[in-house]
Amino acid sequence: MTSALKEVPSNASTPVLNQWDRRHSWHPFTQMQEYCGLPQLHVERGEGCWLWDSEGNRYLDGNASVWTNAHGHNDPEINAALKEQIDKVAHSTYLGLSHPLGAELGKKLADLSPDGLTRSVFSDNGSCAVEIALKLSFQFWQLSGQLDKRLVVGMENGYHGDTFGAMAAGNSGDFHGKFSPWLFESRTFAAPVCEEIDGQVFEADASRSLDSLEKILEEDAARVAAVILEPSIQGPAGMRLQPNGFLKEIEGLCRRFDVHLILDEVFVGCGRTGTMLACESESVQPDFLCLAKGLTAGYLPLAATLTTERIYEAFLGPFDSGNGFYHGHTFTGNPLAACVALKSIEKLERLIGSGQLEETIAYFGRRFAAAFQAHPNVRNLRQRGLAAAIDLFAGEGRESWELNDRVGMQVCVEARRHGLLLRPLLDSILIVPPLIISHEEIDFLFEKLEAALDAVMNNLSH
Ligand SMILES: Cc1ncc(COP(=O)(O)O)c(C=O)c1O
Repeated sequence: MTSALKEVPSNASTPVLNQWDRRHSWHPFTQMQEYCGLPQLHVERGEGCWLWDSEGNRYLDGNASVWTNAHGHNDPEINAALKEQIDKVAHSTYLGLSHPLGAELGKKLADLSPDGLTRSVFSDNGSCAVEIALKLSFQFWQLSGQLDKRLVVGMENGYHGDTFGAMAAGNSGDFHGKFSPWLFESRTFAAPVCEEIDGQVFEADASRSLDSLEKILEEDAARVAAVILEPSIQGPAGMRLQPNGFLKEIEGLCRRFDVHLILDEVFVGCGRTGTMLACESESVQPDFLCLAKGLTAGYLPLAATLTTERIYEAFLGPFDSGNGFYHGHTFTGNPLAACVALKSIEKLERLIGSGQLEETIAYFGRRFAAAFQAHPNVRNLRQRGLAAAIDLFAGEGRESWELNDRVGMQVCVEARRHGLLLRPLLDSILIVPPLIISHEEIDFLFEKLEAALDAVMNNLSH
């Protein structure tokens, strides 16, 4: 070893990890100045719904490791499938070559999706799945001679990822406003209103939203390539719900005005709302369907953009037509990720088919409502499937907090002391557990969140 190379111990102590992390990491969606002042936590291992840090402390994974985990950590069946595959091949390219698991996954996704969705384009994250849908839509209209169809229409509060196309199609001003000079033109329609907990609807109105989309399409359909939205729940916007029947109406408008419908099921797909796909519950058939996150149950990066034969066939032609789709990533369709996706889907089919997921969701909804419906510092409860959110506030008649008070973050940091990992969205707390969470673990989750919330509120009022 040359003297220029430092020796790195394989089992560094937590203080050393803390130092390396502070000196060399730049965490995503994180104000590093704040991060460096907070207690750090290095997740070292996991089992089921639980994670252990480098000090041996145990936490319930209350955000399913950013909404990905389905069957728990360290799942024996997925591990076994992965170990078997790794002894065959870890990676081989999908550019011009195939592999058995890619072919099998393409077939499986076609089987479980709405009828017309027969083709999968693989990539490795949700943003890219959306980029691919957008680019396929744009190129399809070019190939069809409709060169003016270039505009994307997204829904208010929509979030589709952080790459440029995904940012342009989304409406996350707080996250992406700074990049607006570089984003392509898009239009936005209003989001519907829907308040629901435990399957009980308190208020629902989709008319303003549908009217605003209809108006945009009446004005601009000749220029519109695609309408994009996250069906059922806008997760990153803080679990904003859509009323039943809304998606079917959106599909109707897209058909009437001959524009593509892109459904971003990166969050809601793969069991999160109780069905394999969210669009399933309204029998909607989009032109493009984007899957990522739960597709590999929280194990490995893989995404899929599904589309129809009509789209696919438009791209066919002799090589010199230049009609091919020139988009791909080095790890597109990675065999390890594909093997995990296949095993996870098999397990999901069992989880849904046995009624276990539905039963877990019902308990989660009841327990959520019981924990927070009467809490003096909680309002705007919303829940569907295994996804829920609360907005924190200072209490009736009390002065609201400042942005820099970071109350949501304080609650999540306090929750760690109670053995619970969560992530806030400003002063909202988002709750998204693994799909296999047990009743006892749901009890633990809400008890500890309430305890953390009360501890922070107590502290703030002194
Ligand atoms: C609905 C939705 N679309 C797209 C994305 C982007 O996915 P990724 O972070 O894998 O790029 C996310 C991520 O949270 C999402 O929730």
